[in-house]
Amino acid sequence: MSKEHPPLQHVPVLFDAVLRELAPKAGESYLDLTAGYAGHATAVLSITKNDKESVLVDRDDYAIAHLQHLADRGVQLMHTDFVSAAKQLCEEGRAFDLILIDLGVSSPQLDQGERGFSFSHNGPLDMRMDRSQGSTASELINKATVQELATIIHEYGEEPYMQAKNLAEVIVGQRPFRDTESLAELIKQHYRGRAGKIHPATRTFQALRIAVNDELGQVKAILPFLPKLLHKGGRVGVISFHSLEDRLVKRFFKEQIESGLEAELDILTKHPISGATDDVHNPRSRSAKLRVAVKK
Ligand SMILES: C[S@@+](CC[C@H](N)C(=O)[O-])C[C@H]1O[C@@H](n2cnc3c(N)ncnc32)[C@H](O)[C@@H]1O
Repeated sequence: MSKEHPPLQHVPVLFDAVLRELAPKAGESYLDLTAGYAGHATAVLSITKNDKESVLVDRDDYAIAHLQHLADRGVQLMHTDFVSAAKQLCEEGRAFDLILIDLGVSSPQLDQGERGFSFSHNGPLDMRMDRSQGSTASELINKATVQELATIIHEYGEEPYMQAKNLAEVIVGQRPFRDTESLAELIKQHYRGRAGKIHPATRTFQALRIAVNDELGQVKAILPFLPKLLHKGGRVGVISFHSLEDRLVKRFFKEQIESGLEAELDILTKHPISGATDDVHNPRSRSAKLRVAVKK
């Protein structure tokens, strides 16, 4: 196996908590809006045994190709972003007993240098989950103004504003950038102060990834579809990794609580289930938060 192509492994986060909270039962239909490498999906489908009424969505063609064996069993695969998938499923009048959204990136996305998500595996600065859509990270940083880049690094990377502005100025001054290693090296050289235990480029890479894939726009837009896509009594779980994502889910759930008799969902998790306490052996779970609701 070459260094560029490690085995495609993804250890699902909060695995036990997802099964406990969604509590799949035989015959139930399942919609996985971020199927990835089907860690959660395989476990759910092994209980529900209802392949024909289940749908797995991912915007990543690598992931979809990996799920082909499930399509051969009758599970429907959709290679698109989850907002487009939800619109289509709603138009078709479809609804499900179980829905899961496990946001963020998969380990194979990070581990394959050619995808351009990672500074530890050199590759082209791409970062698109769907390689057929939108601008790459290199197009973004080679065109953006200092102000635009500083805002992305500050808001999505949660770097202090002065650090974000400093990095944006250095990037704009030294561009163009085409590969992940040269960008990471520049950030390392110019990062002010210490980044703690993580590589100084970690937060900037996360910020670029969120911007390239419009990740927060996708989260915001998917939430109102969830009640429409659930049968009465159906459960939905959302796993987020970033405080801005979790804030959107938390606000949507709070609005449901506040809408009283009009509410379409009952919120089952008053406080999110945290990977830091509920899934301590999986390092990917450290920042994961799971919120769960049930359709009234
Ligand atoms: C954390 S992984 C999911 C892992 C999966 N639960 C498993 O156990 O294998 C997230 C996946 O969601 C996909 N994804 C992220 N945002 C998406 C979106 N807006 N629409 C569709 N897929 C998305 C990514 O491509 C990635 O494969």
